[in-house]
Amino acid sequence: MATNSKPYKIRWGILATGWIAGVFVEDLLKDPNTRGVDDVAHEVVAAASSSSAERARNFLDEFKCPKSAKAYGSYKELVKDPNVDIIYVATPHSHHYQNTMLALEGDKHVLCEKAFTTNAAQAKILVDTAKKKDLFLMEAVWTRYFPISRELRAFAESGKIGTIHRVMADLSLCNDVESQFGTEHRMVNMNLAGGAMLDLGIYSLTWVFQFLYHILPPSERKPPTVASSMTKYSKTGADESTSIILNFPPLHSHGIATTSLRVAYNPDGKDTAGPAARIQGTKGEIQVFGPLYRPTRYRIVPHDDLLKLEDVTRDIPGMGMFWEADECARCLRDGKKQSQGLTWEESIVIMDVMDEVRRQNKLEYPEKIESTTYPLDGF
Ligand SMILES: NC(=O)c1ccc[n+]([C@@H]2O[C@H](COP(=O)([O-])OP(=O)(O)OC[C@H]3O[C@@H](n4cnc5c(N)ncnc54)[C@H](OP(=O)(O)O)[C@@H]3O)[C@@H](O)[C@H]2O)c1
Repeated sequence: MATNSKPYKIRWGILATGWIAGVFVEDLLKDPNTRGVDDVAHEVVAAASSSSAERARNFLDEFKCPKSAKAYGSYKELVKDPNVDIIYVATPHSHHYQNTMLALEGDKHVLCEKAFTTNAAQAKILVDTAKKKDLFLMEAVWTRYFPISRELRAFAESGKIGTIHRVMADLSLCNDVESQFGTEHRMVNMNLAGGAMLDLGIYSLTWVFQFLYHILPPSERKPPTVASSMTKYSKTGADESTSIILNFPPLHSHGIATTSLRVAYNPDGKDTAGPAARIQGTKGEIQVFGPLYRPTRYRIVPHDDLLKLEDVTRDIPGMGMFWEADECARCLRDGKKQSQGLTWEESIVIMDVMDEVRRQNKLEYPEKIESTTYPLDGF
């Protein structure tokens, strides 16, 4: 999106200094021109670690943030920084509700990592708080802002693959769960809302929802019915494999979203297993190759003479998290409080689906992290 005027710059505060925070900051600091963007820009003005200010300083230095960026030893200090416009919440999902509430109560706009919260009740309160305070709030499902995702949504919306009756999507990463995660790692730790569904299954659901919900006119979007199965990790009780079948009105289209920590969507790393998502319409299908969180290749497979077989690969000048950051900047510039790429309502419907899957399979997280009480100690 090229323009002649000065880019609209937003000032980020980074809440937590773990793995994804580093990946996000590296992308934020990339020159937007390398991705053909000149209408918005980003600056990292502060970071906070819950453990120490020194850890936050090391983080800022490691990722070559400006020397002027402030380092804080608590999240509470970060949200008081008057130079911060928007806070990126990069703690485990168990902490998103408390940390996002802290930022909103501090009058900051928020981009909060996925899964948005531990449950839908928490997500609803975040949205109500953002509304009340007139602040921007967005769940960081970065996949939705990739050019490929936008392109494919528009392609499907135009009717070129006909009526979509089924979407299948899988994000499964084969791990030696016991040796890689043990019992404490956030992927399996119930105290950190661990498990395959909230961490990886959210992306399978993202592909299903983009084509069976999001592209419909708002008046036709209706929450799906849910059937599901779950296998739990014997050492912690977190879900290690979850399969979800959704039935979307008005066409009764099927969405099949699967995730697992035990088997892989791409076992040999060479796409031999085929696409990770299939969007199946009456005139053809769209196939998306994994990993589904970072789509770089798709195929259009015709069933109709008017469609051509296409196999498209797109390079990405970085990880690809900058596109969601650009979306935040444009929303702030334009005075929007939510993104049309993933509205508050859609985030809540997806959280409702995951709540229902957990209810069907009796997966409950500890009371403290399911709680809607704010503030609570220990966050
Ligand atoms: N968008 C994506 O592709 C993507 C990829 C990976 C993860 N994520 C999401 O990002 C979030 C963080 O994942 P991550 O892989 O970055 O995790 P991580 O490496 O474990 O980092 C999490 C950070 O949260 C802070 N934290 C605060 N309280 C904590 C506690 N009780 N236990 C552990 N950490 C605590 C810590 O930072 P301080 O010590 O500095 O406070 C920690 O370094 C998750 O919600 C995850 O789903 C998204």
